[in-house]
Amino acid sequence: MRVYNFSAGPACLPEAVLKKAQEELVIYGNSGMSVMEMSHRSADFEEIIHRAERDLRTLMNISDDYSVLFLQGGASLQFAMVPLNLMTRHRRAYYVNTGMWSKKAIAEAKKVGEVIVPASSEDRTFSYIPELNADMFKGGADYVHITPNNTIYGTRYTKLPDTGGLPIVADMSSCILSEVINVNDYGLIYAGAQKNIGPAGLTVVIIRKDLIGRAPANIPTMLDYKTHADNGSLYNTPPTYAIYIAGLVFEHLLKNGGVPAMQKLNEQKAKLLYDYLDSSSLFKGTAEKKDRSLMNVPFVTGSEELDKKFIARCKEEGIVNIKGHRSVGGMRASIYNAMPIEGVKKLIEVMKDFEKNA
Ligand SMILES: Cc1ncc(COP(=O)(O)O)c(C=O)c1O
Repeated sequence: MRVYNFSAGPACLPEAVLKKAQEELVIYGNSGMSVMEMSHRSADFEEIIHRAERDLRTLMNISDDYSVLFLQGGASLQFAMVPLNLMTRHRRAYYVNTGMWSKKAIAEAKKVGEVIVPASSEDRTFSYIPELNADMFKGGADYVHITPNNTIYGTRYTKLPDTGGLPIVADMSSCILSEVINVNDYGLIYAGAQKNIGPAGLTVVIIRKDLIGRAPANIPTMLDYKTHADNGSLYNTPPTYAIYIAGLVFEHLLKNGGVPAMQKLNEQKAKLLYDYLDSSSLFKGTAEKKDRSLMNVPFVTGSEELDKKFIARCKEEGIVNIKGHRSVGGMRASIYNAMPIEGVKKLIEVMKDFEKNA
């Protein structure tokens, strides 16, 4: 039996995608071999990677002004690659601190240049997105880094800051493809694949072309965006199987109404859960209402013992990976694109029943 997997990542994938991959696992098309066994320079794989890029461009409406890169090293390597490549003119960047992942990005950037943190929500366990205004970004800097969705604390930006023209660099690991965005508002978008895109091991970078080629000459080859842009993400062996699965996910999304349809479904799923949380006398959401994430919903009972009991009860009901991050405690339901609405309804049913008997 497949369970409802509320993991924050690696996370559930669409069952239709897994089945298609299963069908093609041993022999892909007319190749006589698995995608895993294929040369990354073969015509079959070239078609796979080109189609994946084309479909992602269609889904996110990415113009030719941007390169799409399929890299490795996770979002965590982007914490380093972003400053190494972009913090090169003013040697300074703004980083808004909205959670543990922002903090990690800040720590890496500090190794490269000067980091200014114009706003932070650390004072209240990152339970909100701080107010940002143009005055905060005055003075020369190379970019402004934000984390639009904060996976651990369940918050999201509902509007972009006015940075006065400074490029926005966004860590979209836990929200890419979940709602419609305008790519042209960003200088660079990056995301580890393992939440809304596909398996772990792949990192997607969408970078405005004028930001490529700004790295110093002594940057290691693999860390330079230009290397990957110039070689169509095939400078070295890319994570071929992960790219193939990501391609299947993109195709699946296109067939099912694209990002607008996903957004609608994500809003429905999140509303069901938040409405219940707001009506419950046992469970409470931990993020401020105005900044609630559509993707990650942390909640608590206020009693560690009850949290534990609830998590155990969930497991009996086929609901797994619902335990919260240690820094927030309680529970966290990650309801990415691939979580069916039935999974959310089932979770609420179990919560209601648990509340009645608590
Ligand atoms: C917002 C965000 N940024 C970065 C990361 C780290 O990603 P990776 O493990 O791919 O390096 C995560 C992982 O959960 C995340 O949610």
